[in-house]
Amino acid sequence: MADTILDVKDLRAGYGGKPVLQGVNLSVREGEIVAVIGRNGVGKSTLMKTLIGLIGTMSGEISFGGRSISQLEAYRRAKLGIGYVPQGRDVFPRMTVRENLQVGEAMCGRADAGAYDKVYELFPILKERASQSAGTMSGGQQQQLAIGRVLIGGPKMILLDEPSEGIQPSIVQEIGRIIVDFNRRTGITIVFVEQNLDLIRAIAQRCYVMDKGRIVAELNPHELDDRDTIRKYLAV
Ligand SMILES: Nc1ncnc2c1ncn2[C@@H]1O[C@H](COP(=O)(O)OP(=O)(O)OP(=O)(O)O)[C@@H](O)[C@H]1O
Ligand SMILES: [Mg+2]
Repeated sequence: MADTILDVKDLRAGYGGKPVLQGVNLSVREGEIVAVIGRNGVGKSTLMKTLIGLIGTMSGEISFGGRSISQLEAYRRAKLGIGYVPQGRDVFPRMTVRENLQVGEAMCGRADAGAYDKVYELFPILKERASQSAGTMSGGQQQQLAIGRVLIGGPKMILLDEPSEGIQPSIVQEIGRIIVDFNRRTGITIVFVEQNLDLIRAIAQRCYVMDKGRIVAELNPHELDDRDTIRKYLAV
């Protein structure tokens, strides 16, 4: 069995001294695709931001690749190989596709030779549209750009916050296929927050359910096959 890449123990974090995360425990193995689900406002985005260091850890422990990162600044965590695609994607609409990818390179301070080619190979649409403003692309294409921007830095793990948000239902399966495909081809670990039932079922190998700042259940692949089980947890 693959090694653990991310290990979170009793994590508490929040805003203005008030914890939103009330002791989160979870663990992800190298190469896995794991979902974090739960209804609005339970702390899913807060968890992602705490993992990357945008929000400080009040107590508890985050380990990445066997090393404690809870007290590291965000840029150091990025350098260690944690990529993050925020909810709403945040691509720069007036910049071209290529410039957006260059921002990704600047943020991580390096890109391997051939990094752009690799991204263009995974997402041919980005090569096609390289000189076009990002804002002219569809939601699904912008999602590919947001993922590509993170891939430029050669991450070991990517955190995706609601990749299906604002994307036409017909394109959601396509995004799912893209995520599974680059996971298979690169071995990059994926942790994603999602409320879209179809996308969760299409790509998650395992699923954590969050409620009120805690993980309250873990669903295995078999349980993920049961739509009603997931639906129940999304409506807790
Ligand atoms: N910047 C902030 N300052 C203060 N409170 C915040 C801030 N951001 C979020 N919160 C609060 O923290 C709680 C968790 O929010 P969070 O965004 O993590 O939820 P979520 O599970 O991602 O929800 P959604 O599904 O709507 O994206 C909510 O009560 C929210 O109001
Ligand atoms: Mg959120």
